[in-house]
Amino acid sequence: MSKTLIITGGAGFIGSHVVRLFVNKYPEYKIVNLDALTYAGNLENLKDIEHAPNYTFVKADITDANAINTIFKEYKPDGVIHLAAESHVDRSIIDPNAFIQTNVMGTANLLNAVRALWNGHFEGKRFYHVSTDEVYGSLGETGFFLETTPYEPQSPYSASKAASDHLVRAYGNTYGLPFVLTNCSNNYGPNHFPEKLIPLFINNICNNKPLPVYGDGKYTRDWLYVIDHARAIDIVFHEGKCCETYNIGGFNEWQNLELVKLLCTKMDEKLGRQPGTSERLITYVKDRPGHDKRYAIDASKINKELGWAPSVTFEEGLSKTIDWYLSNEEWLRNVTSGDYQKYYQAQYSN
Ligand code: NAD
Ligand code: DAU
Repeated sequence: MSKTLIITGGAGFIGSHVVRLFVNKYPEYKIVNLDALTYAGNLENLKDIEHAPNYTFVKADITDANAINTIFKEYKPDGVIHLAAESHVDRSIIDPNAFIQTNVMGTANLLNAVRALWNGHFEGKRFYHVSTDEVYGSLGETGFFLETTPYEPQSPYSASKAASDHLVRAYGNTYGLPFVLTNCSNNYGPNHFPEKLIPLFINNICNNKPLPVYGDGKYTRDWLYVIDHARAIDIVFHEGKCCETYNIGGFNEWQNLELVKLLCTKMDEKLGRQPGTSERLITYVKDRPGHDKRYAIDASKINKELGWAPSVTFEEGLSKTIDWYLSNEEWLRNVTSGDYQKYYQAQYSN
């Protein structure tokens, strides 16, 4: 069936993989990528599909309610997959307001736009809100985040995402808006902006720069290959039950230091360096304020109800990711020029 979908944040890391999957898999859909092209948005990520007949890019800022309403009236989407966000925890500690504006107000603007457009006629309509496991807060040594785990966000980023999740559910409850919501663990893979742990460290290893490990490095994250997240979004968008939440995770927990050591070993192999060369770049730096100790997702609901499971092992995913960065030096050079250098200085200079 023909449908028009607006995907917000489609020029970013995860969004670009979602846009590509939908454009290629559903030629009968019209896919509109709505993105403000902030520092994290990059149309280079979508070069391979930019001329596809079912793909359109619209540059717009979700904090601009008028622009959003106009675009929604023009394209009349049947569905929205909302990924646009400020996404980096460290930046949220430097400037929380940008996160409150985009993640909270921007989400509210999208909800208001679909509410006005769909006007109570919800047949065949769906608002998909992409969220994070960080809304649940931090775990101790044991246990997992379930869909029923109470929200306890700890950073300005996770608090802004939690607020946006609450708004989506409130619009479902109050106005009957048909939504689905997913909370996913840490993604990694191609096109990941090199401010986040894995791509930052790949870039620094290539350039023989220090690898800044926060605190004692004993923080734990659950890593998922980005294409498996995009596959999960496709399944939940089409088959997820209305107004349900699904957790998505990699069943793949790593302490930061162990992950960094594995990355160093793999990079030494791929760069033809002596074993141990990259590990010598590890430098312990001051900790992230309010650093969440451990995240771990229980993804059994999406697995049992919708049959989704990760398709790529961590070894394979990490290897593909490193290969992608090594063969896309120009992409890396382009995104690390200009403002990136200023951010890097401010974040890592003391
Ligand atoms: P990203 O920072 O790589 O990309 C965000 C995209 O949103 C960029 O293209 C940017 O230009 C766009 N954007 C930002 N502000 C905007 C605005 N005001 N108006 C329009 N567009 C705007 O982020 P990501 O890592 O791809 O994350 C995408 C979504 O997935 C986010 O909602 C994030 O909270 C969520 N998420 C991310 C992860 C992860 O590990 N990266 C895990 C779980 C959930
Ligand atoms: O869990 C999902 C979340 O994962 C997403 O919602 C966020 O958008 C995404 O950025 C990510 O958040 P994290 O804060 O977990 O990811 P990040 O890559 O910034 O950090 C991963 C871990 O590595 C964390 O414990 C902090 C640590 N770290 C990070 C950086 C950038 C370092 O030790 N040094 C660093 O330089």
